[in-house]
Amino acid sequence: MCGIVGIVGKGPVAERLVDALRRLEYRGYDSAGVATIYDGVMDRRRAEGKLFNLEKALDGEPLPGNIGIAHTRWATHGVPNVPNAHPHFVDGVAVVHNGIIENFSELKDELVAEGAVFESQTDTEVVAHLLAKYTREGLNHRDAMLKMLNRVHGAYALVVMFKDAPDTILSARFGPPLAIGHGRGEMFLGSDAIALSPFTNEITYLVDGDFAVITHDKLEVTDYAGKPVKRQSQISQAAAYVVDKGNHRHFMEKEIYEQPEIISHALGHYVDFAANTLKPQAGAIDFSKLSGLAISACGTAYLAGLVGKYWFERYARLPVEIDVASEFRYRELPLSPTQAALFISQSGETADTLASLRYAKDQGLKIGAIVNVQESTIARESDAVFPILAGPEIGVASTKAFTCQLAVLASLAIGAARARGTIDAAAEKEMIGHLIEMPRIMSRVLNAVQPQIEALSRELSRFKDVLYLGRGTSYPLALEGALKLKEISYIHAEGYAAGELKHGPIALIDEHMPVIVIAPYDRFFDKTVSNMQEVAARGGKIIFITDEKGAAATKLPTMATIVLPEVDEVISPMIYALPIQLLAYHTAVFMGTDVDQPRNLAKSVTVE
Ligand code: F6R
Repeated sequence: MCGIVGIVGKGPVAERLVDALRRLEYRGYDSAGVATIYDGVMDRRRAEGKLFNLEKALDGEPLPGNIGIAHTRWATHGVPNVPNAHPHFVDGVAVVHNGIIENFSELKDELVAEGAVFESQTDTEVVAHLLAKYTREGLNHRDAMLKMLNRVHGAYALVVMFKDAPDTILSARFGPPLAIGHGRGEMFLGSDAIALSPFTNEITYLVDGDFAVITHDKLEVTDYAGKPVKRQSQISQAAAYVVDKGNHRHFMEKEIYEQPEIISHALGHYVDFAANTLKPQAGAIDFSKLSGLAISACGTAYLAGLVGKYWFERYARLPVEIDVASEFRYRELPLSPTQAALFISQSGETADTLASLRYAKDQGLKIGAIVNVQESTIARESDAVFPILAGPEIGVASTKAFTCQLAVLASLAIGAARARGTIDAAAEKEMIGHLIEMPRIMSRVLNAVQPQIEALSRELSRFKDVLYLGRGTSYPLALEGALKLKEISYIHAEGYAAGELKHGPIALIDEHMPVIVIAPYDRFFDKTVSNMQEVAARGGKIIFITDEKGAAATKLPTMATIVLPEVDEVISPMIYALPIQLLAYHTAVFMGTDVDQPRNLAKSVTVE
């Protein structure tokens, strides 16, 4: 995580660097810093906390200079304070870094033994010390960088300035992304293309093992042995996106409410609205002869994948192996080229998901990526890319990306079912018809349930623990509901398969434990209601999210019953996602937490 930017500019850069950092704040917001070189002086401003603290520092003491680098931090090594904030300076070297230098402690011991004095607790500072040492030993800047790159291990995007080279920025990528922007007589560098979008749309993406040097009008890329490599620039679509809150209080609220429109746009990529059929997908995976599918992702994207498992297995009779990417990558799971693998990631940069992808690729599987950022590393390393077309998701808690991931997974599962002959053309038409209908139902639901959920959130905010239960595809939704609530309201929440209740969690039930039961009137309904009975019998407070039939069929007393329209099973996860998102959102707003940038989190997790 962490966001980094650099500019070799024609005019003053400090303000533009901070502007670019603003678009990267989703990557971390523990501290921020900027450094420039002006008239032979390299200087910096750093501030703890969010970007506006750095802006205040710059207002008080502006930084002149036409070249600079900047950073917004998500702390890994060392607490979020000013000494640990980047850029780190050692003897005329300035470094910003995204990632982890895994062998920093052994390098630090070595440097300290040689007399180096460290000012921070970060792993990054070893890079600055190594570079200072190598230049003192007589190496030029490039050779010092190459020597340093051959000493450090881990995952990193590194950006470096030397005080005595006021027209050059040096950088390297091994893991976290780095995009180089080509301007007119200026060059830029950033963690993503959106950060650079006001400056340029011509972008070159570095790949792992690239060492790049930018000057005013030139990009040179080599490998770590100094051998030149060619990287093509491309025109990025990032500039097309407007990133503002509109009339909403938070990005999360905006993103919840834009779901009907966004999902309809996303579906347009997969579905022929006139014919009620799926569009053929160029370069897509041939599901017809697969022996199985492996799915891997993290967090909310993993939970979307878990819903997908139910769909692929039920509709396409395709066995699915699914795991969180941090486990998948190390499980040494035997895979066969007769299987395909799907990786789901909003950012397309999540380190564990990318490592899982590479593992599956090494086993000879065809790789599909369900991503939001189509220029991301995960997209670029896949055989088939299935975009979710959600537009930039700025709220750290994923909402619209989740439902768009679900819409894409549903389309793929229906396509797989057709390819495998497990559904006929009439069934395809019917299911696609439900998907086409979905955005209108989402709109209705958002408007209908909002006042009730807002009022309920006040009550929910009084509790310290909350349990979510569901069966079938409502089980991953229960997990997602709990994840959403805990990450933005900081209320402890757990999700369980309703049938698991009596195998342990039931011990927790009393009047202090609200239990949110997600139960459309589907084939699991009666069984879930039995679990609700067990909760009610022990004094648990039930928040029941169901449909009209479900509400009519249940006489149990509840703390609240949220009634949704009756919908087909194939779209119910997208519809039931809405009340759980709203419940988490309003509870967090009521509790006064930082909804869009919850503590300790970052949007793009590019370290393990
Ligand atoms: C939760 C959330 C995270 C992400 C996870 C994966 O609201 O947003 O759990 O889903 O970090 O991120 P991506 O999808 O970018 O790989």
